[in-house]
Amino acid sequence: MNVQTAIRADKAELLRLAREEAYATPLKDFHPGAPKLFQDDTLWPWFERLRKEEPVHYCTNAPIEPYWSVTKYNDIMHVDTNHGIFSSDVSLGGISIRDVPVGYDWPSFIAMDQPRHSAQRKTVSPMFTPTHLDELAKLIRERSIKVLDNLPRNETFNFVDRVSIELTTQMLATLFDFPWEERRKLTRWSDVSTALPKSGIVESAEQRRAEMDECAAYFGKLWNERVNAPPRNDLLSMMAHSDATRHMDSDNLMGNLILLIVGGNDTTRNTMSGSVLALNEHPDQYQKLRDNPELIDSMVPEVIRWQTPLAHMRRTALVDTEIGDKKIKKGDRVVMWYVSGNRDEEGIEKPDEFIIDRARPRTHLSFGFGIHRCVGMRLAELQLKIVWQEMLKRFDRIEVVGEPKRVYSSFVRGIESLPVRITA
Ligand code: HEM
Repeated sequence: MNVQTAIRADKAELLRLAREEAYATPLKDFHPGAPKLFQDDTLWPWFERLRKEEPVHYCTNAPIEPYWSVTKYNDIMHVDTNHGIFSSDVSLGGISIRDVPVGYDWPSFIAMDQPRHSAQRKTVSPMFTPTHLDELAKLIRERSIKVLDNLPRNETFNFVDRVSIELTTQMLATLFDFPWEERRKLTRWSDVSTALPKSGIVESAEQRRAEMDECAAYFGKLWNERVNAPPRNDLLSMMAHSDATRHMDSDNLMGNLILLIVGGNDTTRNTMSGSVLALNEHPDQYQKLRDNPELIDSMVPEVIRWQTPLAHMRRTALVDTEIGDKKIKKGDRVVMWYVSGNRDEEGIEKPDEFIIDRARPRTHLSFGFGIHRCVGMRLAELQLKIVWQEMLKRFDRIEVVGEPKRVYSSFVRGIESLPVRITA
């Protein structure tokens, strides 16, 4: 039995057990946001049952505050596109299932409502226009080539560290015009900003605070340099020279920086790793791609659906309202499970199949909808497209040779390590 076949057999058994448990558990005891389900990748039968039997579900028995789960494609669209009813505001709890803990509540425009949200978003959106992305494409290709050409052959290595983290960190450093040699600081701050004490990333709240203070001081210095220099084409300079953001207080600046660092880092990183994994898990699709590299254009959005790097976004109801047949009260937490909507036949044909040449691959929910729809989505797609073009040119196969280690989180659907081997 080869490695992939063995991994597939183990996974099938794990899923069979998860299915038994999901269908034996009373719906009133469901806690679909339990991070363990995401770490083990056993979330699927739980969400499948919710979509079928109680698509809008209220969880009251979790170790976190009660929350609604919205699991069907059209209901998710309803919540995401009605920002007058469902708020993202950090002061009401923010955008993830757990209310933002004290000390993590820097205001950023993803966790703001109108009109402040749009004014701040407009400041950074020129970074992601088609013309600017065309300019970035050349740089992304050069850097991807360098990273790929330096990979070892006939030797097992961690794809996440050597490729996904390296390339997304390089991109971030470019977007901020951040000192190149120190760019791994960005990766560290991205991880630390969302880490809970004893998560393996930081030991204590004090350690996290100290590292975030270092981040604030570092960016404070860069900010002062950019404010006093003529406007340039980097995110920091764009914010430093715009009326909507020039006078942000230091917490708002920190919030937007963390948003852009985490937004541009974890998500694309995890999709890159997820793409290698998905193609290994579906060798027929990998072969199809090798036979016809043009399929990269539809493979990229399909992999973004398949991975769903942000499993959910959360809102808080501003008024009493209804979703489906459920009555939602003002102040209730409402979690939109993109990861479930992306597996709903209501919105996606054959949703449980990974098909790299789908007719309409962009109908997925992974970038959200409505006014907060991901501002960096075209950049993410571009990065993934280029890295795959260059990988297909160089390597016949990138073979996954061990189990992926997944992140303990029901927000970031991530892969911590992925052992791979490239045969010379
Ligand atoms: C595959 C990669 C990515 C995925 C899956 C993703 C996903 C998302 C999602 C789900 C949202 C919230 C949508 C909503 O609430 O309706 C979002 C917002 C955002 N993303 Fe991304 N993202 C990705 C890449 C990026 C990149 C590369 C950047 C920037 C460099 C970025 C920056 C942002 C920002 C700034 C927001 C806030 C937009 C707003 O509130 O108006 N993202 N993203």
